[in-house]
Amino acid sequence: MTRTRALLVFAALSACRDRAPEVSRPATAIERPGPGPIARAADAAQTSASCTHCHEDAARTHAASLHARAFTDSAFQAAYRAEPLPFCRDCHAPEREASLGVSCVTCHAPRGVQDGAVLAAPHTPPPRPRTGKTAPHPVIRDARFGTAWACAGCHDFAFPAEAARTDGAKMQRTVTEHARSPFATTPCAGCHMPEAPATRARSHGFAASRDLATLRGAVHVTATSTGDGGLDVTISTTGVGHAFPTGDLFRRLRVSATALGAGGEALAEADASLGRHLRFTPNPSGGPPLQTELWDDRVMPGAPRVVHLSLPRATTTREIRWRVEYQRARSANGEHVVLEGVEVLAEGTLTPAP
Ligand code: HEC
Ligand code: HEC
Ligand code: HEC
Ligand code: HEC
Ligand code: HEC
Repeated sequence: MTRTRALLVFAALSACRDRAPEVSRPATAIERPGPGPIARAADAAQTSASCTHCHEDAARTHAASLHARAFTDSAFQAAYRAEPLPFCRDCHAPEREASLGVSCVTCHAPRGVQDGAVLAAPHTPPPRPRTGKTAPHPVIRDARFGTAWACAGCHDFAFPAEAARTDGAKMQRTVTEHARSPFATTPCAGCHMPEAPATRARSHGFAASRDLATLRGAVHVTATSTGDGGLDVTISTTGVGHAFPTGDLFRRLRVSATALGAGGEALAEADASLGRHLRFTPNPSGGPPLQTELWDDRVMPGAPRVVHLSLPRATTTREIRWRVEYQRARSANGEHVVLEGVEVLAEGTLTPAP
C-alpha cells in the first residue's frame, strides 16, 4: 500500500562580522542542497533561527510553507507511521532536529558551504532595490542556485535501496519532467518563488496544489458530448513547468460523468484517472512486492489530454454531469486508492449529442 513496497513493518552566524565581502569562489566543492543527514559544526536550529531575525519576508513565508512542515505535516506523519524508513527522513527531516523540516540552512548552507557563509543566486539585472545594508555574513553567489539544481536533490529521486530494487525506478521525477518540457529554461524558482511587489523579496511559501486558486488557474477543462452517448473531456495546463500532477507518486486526476434521467436520477456512470499507474509486482530479490509503474498518462505542458468516457446511448438521458478532481492519495495499489485530499478543478453539465 505504501510508497516503496507492500508493507510488513520495518522495521550560526555567531560571529556577526561588521562587513564581509561577497565571495564568488569556484563552486566545485559545493554540493547541491539535498537529502541529509547533514553533519554541521553549528546547531542547525539555532543558525536557522538566527536568519529569521534579519530576513523577515523569507522567514514569514517559509514558516507557512510545507518545507517548514516537511516532517511534522500530518500527511507525511501518516505515511511515515506506515513506513518508518531512515530514507524518508533524509528529505523530510534532513537536519538533526527533525521538526525543522527543510530549513534555511538546508538550502542555503549545503555541504561544502562553511564558516557561516550562505549560498545565493547571482543578481539578475535590473538590480533589485536592496536594503542598502551589507551582509554580515559571506555570500557565495553561485549561478546554479538560481536553477533547478537547487531543488533536484530532493525533487527527483529513485525508490530507496531499502526496498531491495535495482531498476532505478523513480519515486518522484519533477526535475526530469521540467527538463523535457517547454519550460526547461524557466527555473523552478521563477514560478515557485515570486517576488513580493512591495519588497521584491522572493516568496519562500512554495504554494502549489494546496492553493486552490493556483491549482484552478493552472488547468483548463472543456467537455463535449459525443455521438455514442458519452463525452470527451479535454484537460490542458498553462504555466505548469512539468507534468500535472507532479511530485508525490500518488497524485492523480479523476474524471467522472453521470448520465441523468428526466427526474434527475442517475442512469449510468463512468470514470477514469490520470496519473502514474502503479501496481505491486513480485520482488526479484524475494522481498515484499515492489511498487511498479505500468504507465503514466498525466497531462504534460503543451500536450492537452483527451479522456473519452463511455455512457450508454439512451433517449431517456436528459443531461450528463461531469467533474474533474485533483486527488492526493495516502496509499495506492492499482485502482485501489485511499484518499487524503480532493479538490474539484472543474465541473459542468452537457446535453447529450443527438
Ligand atoms: C544580522 C543580520 C543577518 C543575519 C543573522 C543573516 N543575514 Fe543574510 N543578509 C543580511 C543582510 C543585511 C544582507 C544583504 C542585504 C540583503 O540583500 O538583504 C544579507 C544577504 C543575504 C543573502 C543574499 C541576498 C541576495 O542579495 O541575494 C542571502 C541568501 C542571505 N542573506 C541568507 C541568509 C541566511 C540563510 C541566514 C541564516 C543562515 C542569514 N542570511 C543570516 C543580514 C543577515
Ligand atoms: C532538502 C530537500 C528539498 C529541497 C532542496 C527542496 N525541496 Fe521542495 N520539498 C521537499 C519536501 C520533503 C517537500 C514535502 C513537504 C511535505 O509536504 O511534507 C517539499 C515540498 C515542496 C513543494 C510543495 C509541494 C506541495 O505539496 O504543495 C514545492 C512547490 C517545492 N517543494 C518546490 C521546491 C523548489 C522549487 C525547490 C528548489 C528551489 C525545492 N523545493 C527544494 C524537499 C526539498
Ligand atoms: C527549499 C530551499 C530554500 C529554503 C528552505 C530557504 N531558501 Fe532562501 N532561497 C532559496 C533559493 C533557491 C533562492 C534564490 C532564488 C533566486 O533568486 O533564484 C533563495 C533566496 C533567498 C534570499 C535572497 C532574497 C531574495 O528575496 O531574493 C534570502 C535573503 C533567503 N533566501 C533567505 C532565506 C531564509 C532566511 C530562509 C529560512 C527562513 C530560507 N531562505 C529558506 C531557497 C531556499
Ligand atoms: C512554468 C512554471 C513552473 C515551473 C518552471 C515549475 N513549476 Fe512546479 N508547479 C507550477 C504550478 C502552476 C503548479 C501547481 C499545479 C500542480 O500541482 O502541478 C506546480 C506544482 C508543483 C509541485 C506539486 C505541488 C503539489 O502541491 O503537489 C511541485 C513539487 C513542484 N511544482 C516543483 C517544481 C520543481 C522542483 C520545479 C523545477 C524542476 C518546478 N516545479 C518548475 C509551476 C511551475
Ligand atoms: C529524496 C527526497 C525524498 C524522500 C527520500 C522521501 N520524500 Fe516524501 N516527498 C519529497 C518531496 C520533494 C515531496 C513533495 C512533492 C509533493 O508534495 O508532491 C514529498 C511529498 C511526500 C508526501 C506528500 C505530503 C503532502 O503533504 O501531501 C508524503 C506523504 C511523503 N512525501 C511521504 C514520504 C515517505 C513515507 C517517504 C519514505 C518512504 C518519503 N516521503 C521519502 C521528497 C522525498
